[in-house]
Amino acid sequence: MKPKGETILIADDEIGLRDSLRDLLTVEGYTVTTTSNGIEAINKLQTEQFDVALLDIRMPKIDGFEVLRYVQQNCPFTQPIMLTGLIDVKLAVEAIRLGAYDYITKPYSSDDLLKVIIRALERKNLLMQNEVMKSELQRLSGSSEIIGDAASFKKVLRLAAKIAPTESSVMIYGHSGTGKELIANFIYKNSLRADKPFVALNCASIPDSLIESELFGHEKGAFTDAVRQKQGLVEIANGGTLFLDEIGDISMSIQPKLLRFIQEGEYRRVGGNTVLHSDVRIISATNKRLENEVANSKFREDLLYRLNVITIDLPPLRERKEDIPKLAQWFIQKKMKTRIQKTLASDAIDVLVRYEWPGNVRELENVIERAAILSHGEIIDAKDLALPVRSLSMKDSQGDEQSRLGKLVPMKEVEREHYLGVLNTLSWNKSQAAKVLGVSLKTLYTKIQQYQLKEKSY
Ligand SMILES: Nc1ncnc2c1ncn2[C@@H]1O[C@H](COP(=O)(O)OP(=O)(O)OP(=O)(O)O)[C@@H](O)[C@H]1O
Ligand SMILES: [Mg+2]
Repeated sequence: MKPKGETILIADDEIGLRDSLRDLLTVEGYTVTTTSNGIEAINKLQTEQFDVALLDIRMPKIDGFEVLRYVQQNCPFTQPIMLTGLIDVKLAVEAIRLGAYDYITKPYSSDDLLKVIIRALERKNLLMQNEVMKSELQRLSGSSEIIGDAASFKKVLRLAAKIAPTESSVMIYGHSGTGKELIANFIYKNSLRADKPFVALNCASIPDSLIESELFGHEKGAFTDAVRQKQGLVEIANGGTLFLDEIGDISMSIQPKLLRFIQEGEYRRVGGNTVLHSDVRIISATNKRLENEVANSKFREDLLYRLNVITIDLPPLRERKEDIPKLAQWFIQKKMKTRIQKTLASDAIDVLVRYEWPGNVRELENVIERAAILSHGEIIDAKDLALPVRSLSMKDSQGDEQSRLGKLVPMKEVEREHYLGVLNTLSWNKSQAAKVLGVSLKTLYTKIQQYQLKEKSY
């Protein structure tokens, strides 16, 4: 397959060689920039991103080694390939020791040169993929198989499959734990960009002051901690997909820049003047109704229109209860790969189906994981399920009206028990618990204090 617009910088002082290289590479489909000395090359590297840099070793003013050093320090993904005469092979080997990807001796054969470039590009893509995986962004762990037969859920999947191969921006709405990231990933995997990076940013997990530099990168010295240039996620995602999770939490101050980027594909690094370009498809997710945020002047309407060209609404789990048994069994299988398969007793399934699942599929996954680990034997029954307010969710088949009324409890008590149950289920991981409960961390702390909840007091 012909490469699509991958960028190559050529730095060589011999005009004939420079031009023939440019022609060869342009015909191959690369976007080529030529420079005639090291200073020009560094100037270009400062303002544009290149996938490969072909650097002549001997150049006036600043030689190829200097440029190589610059690339090493400032352009982590650019692959430098040295161009050298036969007599300088020793120098070329030294350049490789210093981090050049490879070298080509002049006169070069077109075939050899193209092969080296293709390999260098592969390496660059691998490096970027690595970076994508390393980024603290939460990627889906394990298999991303999607379970769901409910009509409402199938409708979602059908829509997702239909719009996946388009370039449209997608907005995924859904309560906490309904599978927003899973669907985002499904769209990405079924898109024409499936072999390009998928980069995720959780807009709620990064302070406002850092989000711009996370998204668009920064120049060296842009602020106190900016000791070196940093590529933004839009740059890393170039050609691929950018997943903006919890988009409803993105601050008003960054929204105009995001809007411009979506409209024009243009952005600037923090502290930089140059307008840079990147081509990404945007998928966003939120559990907030952004129309309300617009009404409250917390979200720009024009940005919302750009983001939700296609809207996918994920139904909460309580509205597709028929999927609960299959999901539960799937989670057992997912967690217990190496052990004997456990199965759910019918009383356990009964309890699971009756429960309302405020934390949706994520909560179900956590409850099942815990039960699968803690239960003895091969059967998981109702008593193994650490569900909050279990007594209320269990079938109350016996007893007359009067005794049922006697068992009814005040709202506060339900709330207390529910908070405690979720916290215990999640081993007191408070940020996860807040998410599942759909409240802020601050509210959670207030409730813990108000109800004097303690670990192990369940
Ligand atoms: N239909 C499904 N089939 C299988 N697993 C699912 C399904 N829906 C969700 N899950 C699993 O449930 C967990 C939560 O899903 P996901 O992270 O996609 O939800 P979310 O809506 O992004 O949650 P949050 O609001 O907390 O960010 C994940 O482990 C995911 O794999
Ligand atoms: Mg999510």
